[in-house]
Amino acid sequence: MTTILGINAYHGDASAALVIDGQLVAAVEEERFTRLKHDTAFPHRAVRFCLDQAGVAPGDIDHMALSRDPFANLGMRVAHALKDRAGRQVATRRAGNLKKILAAKQTLADGLGVPVRDLKLRAHFVEHHLAHIASSYYVSPFDQAAVLSIDGFGDMISAMWGVGEGGRITQRGEVAFPHSLGVYYTAVTQYLGFPNYGDEYKVMGLASLGEPRYLDEFRRIVRSDGLGYDLGLEHFRHHVEGAAMTWDGGPPSLPPLWGPGMEALLGPARRSADEPLETRHKDIAATLQARLEEVVLGMLRELHAKTGLTSLCLAGGVALNCVVNGKIFDETPFTDLYIQPAAYDGGTSVGAAYYVHHQKLKAPRGFEMTHAYWGPEYSDERMRQALDAAGLIGKELPTAEVVAHTADALAEGAIVGWYQGRLEFGPRALGNRSILADPRRDDMQATLNARIKHRETFRPFAPAILEERTGEWFTKSHPSPFMLLTYPVRPERVAEIPAPTHVDGTGRLQTVRRDQNERYYDLISAFADRTGVPVLLNTSFNENEPICCTPEEAVDTFVRTKMDLLALGNHMVEKGSAPD
Ligand SMILES: [Fe+2]
Repeated sequence: MTTILGINAYHGDASAALVIDGQLVAAVEEERFTRLKHDTAFPHRAVRFCLDQAGVAPGDIDHMALSRDPFANLGMRVAHALKDRAGRQVATRRAGNLKKILAAKQTLADGLGVPVRDLKLRAHFVEHHLAHIASSYYVSPFDQAAVLSIDGFGDMISAMWGVGEGGRITQRGEVAFPHSLGVYYTAVTQYLGFPNYGDEYKVMGLASLGEPRYLDEFRRIVRSDGLGYDLGLEHFRHHVEGAAMTWDGGPPSLPPLWGPGMEALLGPARRSADEPLETRHKDIAATLQARLEEVVLGMLRELHAKTGLTSLCLAGGVALNCVVNGKIFDETPFTDLYIQPAAYDGGTSVGAAYYVHHQKLKAPRGFEMTHAYWGPEYSDERMRQALDAAGLIGKELPTAEVVAHTADALAEGAIVGWYQGRLEFGPRALGNRSILADPRRDDMQATLNARIKHRETFRPFAPAILEERTGEWFTKSHPSPFMLLTYPVRPERVAEIPAPTHVDGTGRLQTVRRDQNERYYDLISAFADRTGVPVLLNTSFNENEPICCTPEEAVDTFVRTKMDLLALGNHMVEKGSAPD
């Protein structure tokens, strides 16, 4: 038996994953336990969960795979450090990180409460983008695929591409510091007055409200040529001031990445969320997105031309841009696509583990990630206790009745907290920690925002659809099991599902098969039986915090917000039974 613990630490969305004999057993982000969004610490609690889930003792871990390689691109790091004062400051911070990464085995032992000599494992450092690529390719259904990872920076690199063949990934090229599409997107996101780590998602939603009127200007901000790109550096400042993420016991933050050149080109920045969002801001968001699409789709066409392959694996933070992803089939020759649910940094724990399994230990392929449910689940007893502790009275029903009763309530307009089984890995709730609602109701988006989510009105909610019915409701039907593709809703259907349809007539859909999530599939089917619509509106089970992990957190969110019904496993709780 070979047991590999994958770890993403000291980077956004710290996480752990456990692979035993090539099978993924558990994977989870640290933020789900610590409740700190995008937690960047060493993922002690995630590690503990993974080991407990598999019944593995610390001494039984054979390999620890970290998704960072402090020795990768060393020449580049040294050159950057020697360049100027900013470079030296960055280097000092990196040296601190290097120390922490090299001490990971000791840190792991400390967290597990065992002497380090009890750990027999071998530690491996996997370059960040190789870990990203491995996180997609090695768990994909493909024996052969073109692979591409794009993000901010990891180990000095912002994009890497190559080919996956059987058990081997071959790197063909990369883009290095200071040029980065992730930095490009984040910098303009900050310029538009969205300063928080992870706000890019909001700006992607905002983009649909504007027109891409600034393409000439944006082609100067980021220039591209086939698979390569570079930034017009006068619009940025990270190359002189650094782009290092900082955290201080809270969520990570990035310094401002846009430079004076961006204001000279596009006008004054929106300095805070209190300033109104004008047409100009919406048009800039639209152009930011349009230019990203031009560059990424151009890279993909070139990648196809260079490899001749028709299957594609994507990874990295930019692979969460579901609008770009949804255009791949129309605008590139690729005919098949795989993106792992945790395409962002959280997924690199899985990637590092599989990189060691295949590339270093030469083990044959034999696993495909077809669902995202790799986190903790909790017993019926624990759920009952959570309800008791909150003074709620639940009714325990057989599964078929839970499904039927929930479908009835949804069809009548109820907002339902749907808490079932194992927690999702990755940023999206996919039917185990979801808030569900009737997609047919025009006012449902506003109602959800007013009662529960309290978020910007331009951010869309997502449709979940029975996979086999996708083509009836959307103009494309390639499966999107992890809510990572946006497709146009068929024009004749828009009026039938207005709530999860974005202003531009698209939906960021999740397609659901019964073998991926039986109870969720049955619920959507039951809703379809009642209404003729095989779609539910799905948003994550949280208010403004990491997705609920435990039953207590779900109950707390239910009590705090104005949901109508909670399906906590087989326990059904009506709103009326909640204390005021
Ligand atoms: Fe990354």
